[in-house]
Amino acid sequence: MQLTNYENRMLNGEMGEPIRKAMEILVALGESYDAKRMVEVRNVHLAGASIVVTGEAGVKFAESMQCQGGCFCTRTTSNPTALDCAKWRELGIAEKDAELQGRLTNALAKLGAQIISTCTPYFVGNAPRLGEHVAWGESSAVIYANSVLGARTNREGGPSGLAAALCGRVPECGFHLKENRYGKLLINVTIPLSGVTDYGCLGYFAGMLSSQDTPVFTGIPDTATPDELKGLSAALGSSGAVTMFHAVGVTPEAPDLETAFGGKKPETVVEFGEKEKKMMLDKLDREESSDVDWVMLGCPHASMFEIADISRALEGKKINPDVTLWVGTSIQVKTIADRMGYTDIIEKAGGKVVCDTCPVLAPTRDLAQKMGYKVLTTNSAKMAHYSPGQFGLMTHYGNIDKIIDAAVTGKWKR
Ligand code: F3S
Repeated sequence: MQLTNYENRMLNGEMGEPIRKAMEILVALGESYDAKRMVEVRNVHLAGASIVVTGEAGVKFAESMQCQGGCFCTRTTSNPTALDCAKWRELGIAEKDAELQGRLTNALAKLGAQIISTCTPYFVGNAPRLGEHVAWGESSAVIYANSVLGARTNREGGPSGLAAALCGRVPECGFHLKENRYGKLLINVTIPLSGVTDYGCLGYFAGMLSSQDTPVFTGIPDTATPDELKGLSAALGSSGAVTMFHAVGVTPEAPDLETAFGGKKPETVVEFGEKEKKMMLDKLDREESSDVDWVMLGCPHASMFEIADISRALEGKKINPDVTLWVGTSIQVKTIADRMGYTDIIEKAGGKVVCDTCPVLAPTRDLAQKMGYKVLTTNSAKMAHYSPGQFGLMTHYGNIDKIIDAAVTGKWKR
């Protein structure tokens, strides 16, 4: 790779051991992707903020970087951790996990990260601008940043994100290059879509077809909300290895079909209609019994508008005593929900607003066994995708009204 003088000085260790090691990681990555040079980044979102992702080795790595004087030179935010800082005991998290998570969070904060502990950094102050090169981890956030905001990022893993935050560089490859950002596959949406569950079905369908390619959608209305587009992003990143999408007339790099495809013809054209939506609903709503014991909303982390909707749907109701309901969000959004009285309504109904974590990044298999959960009920295609394999829980998948009804009655109605 062609490095600048400054980058060579980083690689030679002139700026300290943590930066030397970090640059070594970035150069190795760049060489493996045939990158010609580095690109400067000033904004990093770290995926490796939970001990479930990093393991003890990752905690030690972050601690050693910090002890050797490492310091992030970028505006850096962090993904969810393995626990809710305030409620971890009440939620059933083990003491040893809390201790290890505390070490990791502490090391990242001392290195210079803002510990926002959310997968929706774009809702709470970290929203890069159109064309800005960034280094983000967390598949749903990466897809949202590339597609909806028009920023440029690859999917950074734990070590590469940390290295980018230390050096302010990433290899110039993949989605940093304009020529790699065009669509390959056209998906014509022929039915009206409403709510995150419908967008989750579309994303799950498109992710399965696209693999690593970029899908282009027509038929998504320009009234699609940020919550619906985040549901679409999360679903795309779970059934496929998609890094961005275009929605013609909606997302900034797709004012028209020709621009979205870079003047080329789509390699594949498919339709998403009632039949395809039903297929996805059947795939994600796979628990045969009507049992409901754990309800999880807020994946990706709920916005204040979603929390307002959930609280309106729960107002004056009581959640079945055999059902646990979590609403996952960031501490920042919860602060607004507290002020608006939404948290109070949800808690009076028997639910919990859970911050800083999510089931995929928490030691959930142990937790589910300890709490006796057997079925996970959710409106998130991403959560429904991971639940059977990762926590051993089959899933009910549906829209918010259906889910609130299930939480109250303790039964899933088909
Ligand atoms: Fe966020 Fe966890 Fe879902 S990180 S996208 S709430 S799986």
